[in-house]
Amino acid sequence: MGDTSVKLAIGDNSFDYPVLSGSVGPDVIDIRKLYGQADVFTYDPGFTSTASCRSKLTYIDGDAGVLLHRGYPIGQLAENSSFMEVAYLLLNGELPVQQDLDKFIYTISRHTMLHEQLATFYRGFRRDAHPMAIMCGVVGALSAFYHDSTDIDDPQQRMIASHRLIAKMPTIAAMAYKYSIGQPFLYPKNELSYTGNFLRMTFGVPAEPYEVDPVIEAAMDKIFILHADHEQNASTSTVRLAGSSGANPFACIAAGIACLWGPAHGGANEAALNMLREIGHPDRIPEYIARAKNKDDPFRLMGFGHRVYKNYDPRATVMQKTATEVLDKLGVTDPVFDVARELEQIALNDPYFIEKKLYPNVDFYSGVILSAIGFPTTMFTALFALARTVGWVAQWNEMISDPEQKIGRPRQLYTGPTQRDYIPVDKR
Ligand code: CMC
Repeated sequence: MGDTSVKLAIGDNSFDYPVLSGSVGPDVIDIRKLYGQADVFTYDPGFTSTASCRSKLTYIDGDAGVLLHRGYPIGQLAENSSFMEVAYLLLNGELPVQQDLDKFIYTISRHTMLHEQLATFYRGFRRDAHPMAIMCGVVGALSAFYHDSTDIDDPQQRMIASHRLIAKMPTIAAMAYKYSIGQPFLYPKNELSYTGNFLRMTFGVPAEPYEVDPVIEAAMDKIFILHADHEQNASTSTVRLAGSSGANPFACIAAGIACLWGPAHGGANEAALNMLREIGHPDRIPEYIARAKNKDDPFRLMGFGHRVYKNYDPRATVMQKTATEVLDKLGVTDPVFDVARELEQIALNDPYFIEKKLYPNVDFYSGVILSAIGFPTTMFTALFALARTVGWVAQWNEMISDPEQKIGRPRQLYTGPTQRDYIPVDKR
């Protein structure tokens, strides 16, 4: 309970509500008793001012462009850590000592295979199915295959399910890709790193050995770190909401994948690259800037703007640097990158974007890198889902072990007809 309180006056009545303080960030008014005491709800579509839970995982200061996981700045993690270490950190709260990290990597690598019958499941999809459609289906189907890790009241089973999800996601995503191009699925190779293994399952073929390129592996690992968690975003809130009813972890993560797919969320990386390709040449940028500013045109600059960051997205800074490294290493001279650089400069100096605090977000450059590595645009959001699974399972575990957790059940402001009598069809 906080030290202070706020007073709410409604007509002649006044009510006191405690103000809770976190370790950092804005205070929160605890209005849980509001409806019971004052018979009113709050109205907050999109939850722009509503804290839905307590969390120790991730902190964002959108005005300052700060993103911390368990207190550690994202820039430091991306520069010095590995995706597996960040996964351990998010799940367990502290950075691991070497022995614990080795054990964690070993555990994850022992869960990378999929039940063999799931390969048959893939064959039920059309060849041109979007990988996110396959991911939703296959991840949801995991609950039918791993019955020994669906009891959410057992912390041990919750942890096994979390490890399974983190471990199997690269296999699932790589198989979605292989299926789309008609190549055989590759089994995981556990002597490779988490990211190296994923690259091999995606780009390798059984007929030849596959050499993991360390520059690509490092870049990919960084992309995974940058997408690992992002506080109570739409897909994470979806996972929490689905989990609040007691649904099993695989079903909850499938719900998160469905939410992530949308172009306003994870689908933006695919949409951003498609947009850059459509622009095609720096000369056409003014036309698209004008469209983005036109109120009568629904077009938005994809990869720009963020609900929380009203300063530079700290993930975009790392992403831009990584893009240069990857393109240099691969010797790729993609005109799309020139369009991206130029568009960024023009938008950053345009009064419309300055006034509305619209900056490039994480998705602006990630598509350029992924495309240079060889991923088709349809795989971009699947890669986001792979990485975000770590955040989803960590947040889901935190929620299940929170004694204040309740089934999520928002209220509404009803604006439909009041009660009226049914009229038989011949009398209408
Ligand atoms: N291009 C042009 N105008 C924009 C853009 C944009 N990308 N984003 C926001 N605006 C304008 C918007 O029209 C509105 O103007 P006005 O106040 O005159 O009506 C104002 O800025 C505020 O926009 P909003 O939609 O109320 O802001 P929001 O916080 O609800 O939306 C957003 C955030 C990310 C959905 C939005 O900026 C957007 O659609 N961006 C493009 C999609 C994108 O890149 N999404 C990836 C987000 S980062 C990855 C992730 O976390 O999933």
